[in-house]
Amino acid sequence: MNLRIYRDVLDLSEAAAHLFVEEARRSIVETGRFTVALAGGSTPKRAYEILATEYGGPEDLDWSRVHAFFGDERTVPPDHGDSNYRMAREALLSRVPAGSVHRMHGELDPSEAATLYEEELEAFFGGSPAFNLILLGIGEDGHTASLFPRTPALDVRDHWVIENSVEKFGTIRLTLTVPAINAARRVAFLVAGEGKAEALKEILERNVDPYDYPAKLVSPADGPDWFVDRTAAGLLD
Ligand code: 6PG
Repeated sequence: MNLRIYRDVLDLSEAAAHLFVEEARRSIVETGRFTVALAGGSTPKRAYEILATEYGGPEDLDWSRVHAFFGDERTVPPDHGDSNYRMAREALLSRVPAGSVHRMHGELDPSEAATLYEEELEAFFGGSPAFNLILLGIGEDGHTASLFPRTPALDVRDHWVIENSVEKFGTIRLTLTVPAINAARRVAFLVAGEGKAEALKEILERNVDPYDYPAKLVSPADGPDWFVDRTAAGLLD
């Protein structure tokens, strides 16, 4: 397990931005492009802003070879306050000349949006999606992306993208599935705040049921990296 503990969310964000750029440079040298699925929520925002302000120039990264996707999305329009796309666009994507940006269409019927995104992934990758990097967060309930505890999406193995009914929020979300996440070359969790400490301990140190803590289902070939601040790591042995 690749666990890195940082003093605070700013240090964590700087490290996450550096990882993004390192992986991007490596992928561009090796394949001519970098494919990344961005996390939603609030934790990654600072890292996205750092990418825009500290690594946004052509001398830092050939952004034209960066192709941005999303790990999940709320079923809202792209300009809605809850939109993961809107957060990433404002913090990063509107400030760098990315080669392409592929948002999940939260404004559409969820099943249609999931099918469209899956078709977009298959067209872009010429088959099975294999992202160079996927950034993820975890919720206090142990969810990741929009793979929430004991929801139907956890069992989906024959799709890359699925709509997921999240009863506790009374909503439907769009999410990459477990196979799509685990096919990535590298997966990095960004976790900050005391509120995540219990879930992180359950996920990293206890033999909990992955259906109760879906982040445990994330197991790419080289294992996920954990970028954690001290408060979120506060209960770890
Ligand atoms: C979302 C995210 C979700 C997020 C966690 C953590 O759409 O909300 O994809 O999985 O990463 O809920 O969110 P915070 O970073 O806001 O704590």
